[in-house]
Amino acid sequence: MEVVHLLENRWSSQKPYDIDDVDRAVHNLEEYSEQGVWAYSIKYILITLGSRIFRIRTSQEKIERFYADAKLLCVNLTKNDCEQLNKYLKGLDAMWPKLRKQLEDPGFYRFVYEFAMQSAFLLPYFSVLSPHAPALEAARGYSVDMGGTYRRIDPETDSQTFRFVVGERTFRSFDFRLCNHQTALLNLAADMEASGLGKPSVFFVGGGMMPMVRFYYLRPEMIKDVFDRVVVYDSDPNMPEYLKMVFDRPLSEYGIDYHFEDAANGFNDPAFQGQFDAVDCTGVMSYCQTDEDIAKMLCGMKKMLKPGGIMMFDRQVMTPDMIRCALTLAWKTDPPLKPELTVKRAITRIRKIAARVGLVVTDTFPDEYNRLPALVDFILRNPSTK
Ligand SMILES: C[S@@+](CC[C@H](N)C(=O)[O-])C[C@H]1O[C@@H](n2cnc3c(N)ncnc32)[C@H](O)[C@@H]1O
Repeated sequence: MEVVHLLENRWSSQKPYDIDDVDRAVHNLEEYSEQGVWAYSIKYILITLGSRIFRIRTSQEKIERFYADAKLLCVNLTKNDCEQLNKYLKGLDAMWPKLRKQLEDPGFYRFVYEFAMQSAFLLPYFSVLSPHAPALEAARGYSVDMGGTYRRIDPETDSQTFRFVVGERTFRSFDFRLCNHQTALLNLAADMEASGLGKPSVFFVGGGMMPMVRFYYLRPEMIKDVFDRVVVYDSDPNMPEYLKMVFDRPLSEYGIDYHFEDAANGFNDPAFQGQFDAVDCTGVMSYCQTDEDIAKMLCGMKKMLKPGGIMMFDRQVMTPDMIRCALTLAWKTDPPLKPELTVKRAITRIRKIAARVGLVVTDTFPDEYNRLPALVDFILRNPSTK
């Protein structure tokens, strides 16, 4: 496998959506200017806060009207295809008990009405996927439609979802960190290949649906060529079901050793300690609440590394989108997300904690997709000698 060739060809046909699609969508998105994003998030935040202060709930009449409109949406989306229509209506009814409850919040009602009523994807997105790992797939142009099918979001037929995906700074930052981590892993593979050191072994913490080996420069079929060993931990009990949406065969056949449990179990397993050239951790460190939590996670990941090995992770930074997600869209993760207030604070904090646990921060990357970054990415190195 020529890893260098992979690196040279990145951003070519491997992109899940054509770069033209993104350009066109961005071009059509005047209302998503930086100021627009603030304004549109704050509007829903204020509606939610106001309705809480004054104890206002959405009327049952409005909720019933929403249901009737959602049914109409299914009819419009499926045109004359009766089989598809039945699937969509069944999907709507399956999500309706939860959605109905969510709609009682006037901010949620308003947001979903304004965003989801032309889309095959956004109702399931807000009521079923968010905030679980499959919700992140939208950042790469894929999601689950009303009929429960995982498929590509077509910017022509589903411009509403596409606008949402392109406009959300958090989505863009998910893409950014994924590309950043893949680049680091492929650079490592190229360096090791050039030095005759073989292929890298990688330990993924909170691997989710493994976008790191499915998008952009990599495909699951390439794992065995690029990596010597891939071990993954994720504690979400629904993960085996989610993974079936995107992997055709058992993961072991791709060379993925996936453990459906807390990564701490991996950190404590002597069979894994000191065995890996890299630890990759996307979207997990922001769950760490205190310096002690961060230090504990860093120590655990460090234990996995060979001397000189690298680790990469991100800390999310507070944005209006994120406040809107947490408040209006009741986007609750377990444990709750604890974003940093600024990029500068994130970098200072991680440098300090890393030094304490004997790691060296080699690179910091504030999310370059957004003028107000939604995250900062880090690469750390385990010193070669004690
Ligand atoms: C935001 S998702 C990111 C998934 C994936 N890394 C990606 O970029 O798409 C975070 C994932 O980390 C998992 N997770 C969080 N804390 C974990 C822990 N201590 N051990 C294992 N998995 C964890 C969650 O279950 C979730 O699937």
